[in-house]
Formats: sequence, C-alpha cells, structure tokens
Amino acid sequence: MKAVSVGEGYGRVNLIGEHLDYNGGCVLPLQIKNSIICELSENPEIDCISIASDKYQKTLSIEKLEKRDDWADFIIGSCLFFGKKYSIIIKELSFKISSTLPLGIGLSSSAAITVSTLKALNNFYKKNMSDDELIDLAYGIENIFVGVGGGIMDQFASVLGNRKQALYLNTLSRSYELVNIFDDYNFLIIDSNTKRILSNSEFNQKKELCLSAAKKMDLKNLCEKEFISEKEIKLLSDEEFKVCRHVIEENIRVKKAVQFLKDDNPNEFGKLMTESHSSLSEYYGVSTDELNELVNLSNYFGALGSKLTGAGFGGAVVTLVKNDKVEEFKKMILENYKKAKFV
Ligand code: GLA
Repeated sequence: MKAVSVGEGYGRVNLIGEHLDYNGGCVLPLQIKNSIICELSENPEIDCISIASDKYQKTLSIEKLEKRDDWADFIIGSCLFFGKKYSIIIKELSFKISSTLPLGIGLSSSAAITVSTLKALNNFYKKNMSDDELIDLAYGIENIFVGVGGGIMDQFASVLGNRKQALYLNTLSRSYELVNIFDDYNFLIIDSNTKRILSNSEFNQKKELCLSAAKKMDLKNLCEKEFISEKEIKLLSDEEFKVCRHVIEENIRVKKAVQFLKDDNPNEFGKLMTESHSSLSEYYGVSTDELNELVNLSNYFGALGSKLTGAGFGGAVVTLVKNDKVEEFKKMILENYKKAKFV
C-alpha cells in the first residue's frame, strides 16, 4: 500500500545532565543521525489500525485502541491521544515503522517512535500541530499511556534539536538554547550490547526517591537546591541522600559543561562527563559493570571523558574523542570489548 503520509523522529544522545529532567534541572542532549520513520497509509479493509515494523515479522492487527504492554503501545497511544486532541476517530489506517535507531539502549527510541507517529498523523489529517503541542502530546503518551515516568528531555531533543548543536534545556522553565559542539572532537556512541533492563519499576523507583527527598526538604524540585545542609541530610534516608547528591551536583555540572562548550574547552568538558558517570554509578545506582568497563576503556584509549547516556541499567555510553584519533580509538575498543558496537 502506498504511504500517504510520513513522519520522522530522531534519537538523541545526552551529553550530560542525567536524571534531571524530572527534577526540574538542566540537560544537554544532542540529536543524532539515527531515526525512526513512520509511514501511514489508508486501508479500508481493516476496522481499526494495523502496525508493521522492519524489526518484527508479523503485522499486528489492532482491533481496539487500548494498552497491550508492548512496543505497539507507542503507536496506539499516539492514535488515542491525537484522536482525542482533535476529536477524530482514528480507523482504517496502516502504520509501517522502520528504524535506523537501535532500540532500548538509551538513545531515546521511545520518544522517536512517538514523535514519528504523531508527525505522520499530523501530516495526514493536516492539523498544523505546533512544536510545543507535539512535545506535550508525545510526553503525555509516554508518561500517562505507556507509563514510564521520564521527563521532557527526549521529546524536546527529537523535535527541536539538531546534530551540530547541543540543546541546553532548562526542564523547569522550558527555556532552551542551541550551543555549537566542538569542531575537532566527536561524540562517539558505543553500545555495550548488554540488554537494557529498563524496567519501568526501577526507573520509577529512582524517581520516587527524588520525590520523597524533595518532600522532606520542602521543595517542589530537587534542582532548586545547590547544596544540602547537615540538618537536611538528617531528614533523608541513605538512599534518598545518594540520589539527591547526584541530582544536585549533576545540575551544577551541566551549567559548567555548557560554559566549557562555549569556551571551546573539550578537556574540561570531558572531565565533567566522567564525573557525571561516576556519580550515576556510585550515587544514582544506574550503571552496570559493562558500562563502567566501557567508560574506563574509552578514557584509557584517549577519550577526554565518557559517561553512560539515558536512563542507564545497560545500553550505551557516549565518549569524547579527537577527530584524528577516532579510527585508532574504535579499533582499540573493539579489540578490548568484543561485543561493542559503534552507533
Ligand atoms: C530516560 C528518560 C529521560 C531521562 C533519562 C535520564 O531516557 O526517558 O526523560 O529521564 O532517562 O536522564
């Protein structure tokens, strides 16, 4: 069937500022070349919708727009939320999803699939949805319908980012600035090839700790703070203290990192990336042995700094390498970490 409307959603790599977008902090994602494409066509032979993907053999025939607890939920949720927003009954449509974006390794495939589907629907129904509306709708689908409690970073990066400029976003005020990345250095992404077990529950557990710590300190968002006093530490459990420490210090790191980016200082920027990783590992508790190994190997073979990207619990790392060292660097990593894949 010929596609009548197409939407594309890009992935992102987060350079620094992890687990801050649901704590009112600042983040620094960079859009990447890999994307998800949604092709939509009319299909009068089906009552509701069908979904096909280049990653799976079987075409799914969806009889009713309701949650199934699998990847199709992003498309079903998009149809439901889009339909509700514009009072349209969505039916007799076929969706075909194809992707150059590896799924579930911390490069925001969830936001990319949702954004691509919403863009395809928007083109098809000619609704002129604004970027802000698209971001909000995509965010609602992931948080309310699919049920992973992330922040607004991925949707913003997918809709408003680009590959040459990092998106410095204040997730509380939603103000943002695009900042040029380094000319002579590359942000490489290495997939550790260990399945990310991003169980919603583990992610949401971390979020709960942040919320309970904020409540005990009488804050709306942890990122309102720049330090925790002795008196406040006594209010917190050990676990709460550790996540707070990561969040508060990471937010300060993001602000410094942006300045180093503007000052063209990759050395200092790289150091902050590695500090961010150590904090994610030690305090936030979302790294794995494999991610730590890749970060250590990368830094050992000449990267200026490295960290896990996205939620953690497996997935990929991002590492800062001088352009003329990239080929040698890749060789060394592949020799020493056989399962690694460069994205
Ligand atoms: C996931 C979420 C994002 C963000 C990151 C951690 O990718 O979707 O909103 O919270 O984790 O920085």
